Amino acid sequence: MPTKTTVSVIKCDVGSLVGHHIAPKVLLNLAEKRLAEAQGKGLINSHYVFNAGDDLELLMVHQRGEENPQIHKLAWGIFLEASEKAKKLKLYGAGQDLLKTAFSGNVRGMGPGCAEMEFEERAADPIVIFAADKASASAFNFPLYRIFADPSNTAGLVIDPEMAGGFKFEVLDAKQNMTVVLKCPEELYELVALIGTTERYTLSRVWRAKDDLICGATSTSRLSLIAGKYVGKDDPVSIVRSQHGLPAVGEILVPFMHSYFVEGWMRGSHWGPIMPVGLKDSQCTVFDGPPRMVSIGFQICDGAIACDDEGKPMIADLFNDPAFEMARKEAMEYAAALRRMGEFEPARLPAEALEYTTLPQVVEKLKGRFKKI
Ligand code: F6R
Ligand code: MG
Ligand code: MG
Repeated sequence: MPTKTTVSVIKCDVGSLVGHHIAPKVLLNLAEKRLAEAQGKGLINSHYVFNAGDDLELLMVHQRGEENPQIHKLAWGIFLEASEKAKKLKLYGAGQDLLKTAFSGNVRGMGPGCAEMEFEERAADPIVIFAADKASASAFNFPLYRIFADPSNTAGLVIDPEMAGGFKFEVLDAKQNMTVVLKCPEELYELVALIGTTERYTLSRVWRAKDDLICGATSTSRLSLIAGKYVGKDDPVSIVRSQHGLPAVGEILVPFMHSYFVEGWMRGSHWGPIMPVGLKDSQCTVFDGPPRMVSIGFQICDGAIACDDEGKPMIADLFNDPAFEMARKEAMEYAAALRRMGEFEPARLPAEALEYTTLPQVVEKLKGRFKKI
């Protein structure tokens, strides 16, 4: 059996600089140092640290498989140490996503978000990572549907015989804590029926149908369900494998040519337009947003990220491109239209989506004052 390679992206909001704006450089540097040490010890083969707004993102490439306790412990330890540093500096929301204390080998259900994918390396394996801030767990439902199921987005679904059999989609029902796998194009309508309901269903994994080749993995943690109250939005991450019988990098990026709406933004309680940005603009400002999306790309090489002559991983900053200017402009136009609505739906999320916010407390407070008519 050839050795398999694992790509792990584990992320956490451990505290941020000026409100919920960005994970500052001091925390990124700390994470970089610890991951470099882990790489030196051979625990991981490659790493890259970046931020999506106020979330600290750890990309680790290794050969230890998914849900590996050593890898998860490494990430958990870094988040703990970074949150301690954030507390010392009195950064905002220090340790906000570290919802549990007793670590038992896996970050799932403890607050941090995690997307992982283990696979046998192909001759050349291009990987695209997406990371969002101020967005709900289902923020990738729409683009992943476009990438892997919509022939008007992905020419390969029509033209490339390798993709003719379609793709399989795992959908998580966050209310029932159950998953279902649907095969497209045959079950396309059922897929859209489910994942169009973003509040409840999250697209979690994608495989090429003809050979079950894994090609999509998304973090699914819902912080409000873990904490039982609003503690910040989930700000998910996603890993997508590309090319040679899978959607091309350009087909993976084209859904972001236009902005689209996600649940999140201010206080995790509003519809907000996704703004695809380069890493330099990975920050949230207007009404704590608009919800930002960054994307990085790299080639997998012998269990690691392909490196330059100095041994530095070669990372492409995919949204750092004028081609996404239109989406950014649209995002601001949509943002302005929504903000004109103030706290009236549909700018604000419907009451059911706010069940873990302070709205129920307002209703509770007024309970005795409602009169029967
Ligand atoms: C959304 C988010 C922010 C905060 C908002 C209020 O995910 O992180 O919009 O919800 O800034 O924050 P607190 O309650 O910390 O004052
Ligand atoms: Mg925060
Ligand atoms: Mg965040």
